[in-house]
Amino acid sequence: MRITIVGSGYVGLVTGACLAELGNKVTCIDIDKARIAKLARGIAPFHEPGLNGMLKNAISKNCIHFTSSYKKGLLQSDAIFVCVGTPSKKNGAPNLEYVSNVFISLAKNIGDHGVIFIKSTVPVGTNKKMQSLFKKYNKNPEIKFASNPEFLKEGDAINDFKKPDRIIIGADDSNVQQIAKKIYKPFNRQTNRMIYTNIESAELIKYAANSFLATKISFINEISRLCEKTNANIDEVRQGIGSDPRIGAQFLYPGLGYGGSCFPKDVQGLIRAFSANNLDANIAQAAEKSNDLQLQFFIDKIKKSTNSSLRKSNILLWGLSFKPETDDIRESLAIKLIKAISSQVKNLYLYDPVAIPNSKLELKGIKNIHYLQEKYAKIEECNFLVICTEWREFWDPDISKLQKLKNKQIFDGRNILDQKAMLDANIQYNGIGR
Ligand code: UDX
Repeated sequence: MRITIVGSGYVGLVTGACLAELGNKVTCIDIDKARIAKLARGIAPFHEPGLNGMLKNAISKNCIHFTSSYKKGLLQSDAIFVCVGTPSKKNGAPNLEYVSNVFISLAKNIGDHGVIFIKSTVPVGTNKKMQSLFKKYNKNPEIKFASNPEFLKEGDAINDFKKPDRIIIGADDSNVQQIAKKIYKPFNRQTNRMIYTNIESAELIKYAANSFLATKISFINEISRLCEKTNANIDEVRQGIGSDPRIGAQFLYPGLGYGGSCFPKDVQGLIRAFSANNLDANIAQAAEKSNDLQLQFFIDKIKKSTNSSLRKSNILLWGLSFKPETDDIRESLAIKLIKAISSQVKNLYLYDPVAIPNSKLELKGIKNIHYLQEKYAKIEECNFLVICTEWREFWDPDISKLQKLKNKQIFDGRNILDQKAMLDANIQYNGIGR
């Protein structure tokens, strides 16, 4: 099939690369000409394992093209996936300006047929509003509309796209369902994962799923705070509840709170959807509030344990991205922590495998920050280590080097270190809830 992808972020590029790999003729449209030029060379504008290789492979097979021209990008398209961002506005509502601009451009340039799938995360009711906007410029009844939310996770996006737990298609038209079935057929062979809903259900499923996962994380983080007061061990509690299949072990790992470009935005978006319908979003609001408390709980732990010496301290901090296997620092708890304590410490020495370039842009106003190319550099000048992101290379550190920390102290924000090994090495270990 001929498929057009509008928007070359995580969702757009992964969707395009995976559908191109199946032999579809894919064209990606993005208004950012510089980004298009790099993509034409198979270079994605962000770190996502395996993506550059897939793009280069699809380019070499002439299965994927990149353009800033809607006219060119829409030529004979059978399916168009709208994958532009919907970032939160200051009031917490999703910004739908980019989606609206896309629909106007589609209306003015689309061919004589095609199905427009909204993959971007949009509030319930947006699809119908975009259809009305489209029809102000283009009344062709052969153009159909659907909602197809995406559930890929950064850092494992290709795998998630190719092995979806479910493929949600919100549509009122059976022909649209057939086209969706054809597109996703290769990913749907072993078990039928297609779930057909109406458009509003598909839009709400995305917010409900992300907000539920965020709530689950806030719940275990809140339990971790209780563990520290009651000598319970969060690892044991996590295993004790996660072994119940009704609860499940995934997304039950305590940390500094949830971050990233989705959970904070989508929880806030759900809260606004409730208030827009004169309903109280009690649970989503509680999850959001508890998430903010978790970071403060960790900062207080550092302050309490180092008391007055914090101001004279040099801190070694590992992990800047919001999660491993990405250079994305949007709503990263590490970045939030750095901004919260940088004025109260002597120096911060920061290391991350891939997120330093993005962090330099975000933290450029802070003078007492120094970036390390190697995680043990400066360790002898640092008083203690703070781990914020659970990159694999942090899980089994060289203990003899950790013993060089001036205070021999570690704050493990992700509970990834072997607590007993640290204690045996006479290192003061501070985890989360254990
Ligand atoms: C999320 C959803 O998982 C995905 O389905 C949706 O399409 C987009 O939003 P993403 O934000 O990329 O994906 O990453 P995810 O792995 O979900 O992590 C989100 C945040 O939760 C991160 O800050 C992570 O550190 C945190 N997290 C995750 C925890 O604190 N504990 C956990 O057990 C899992």
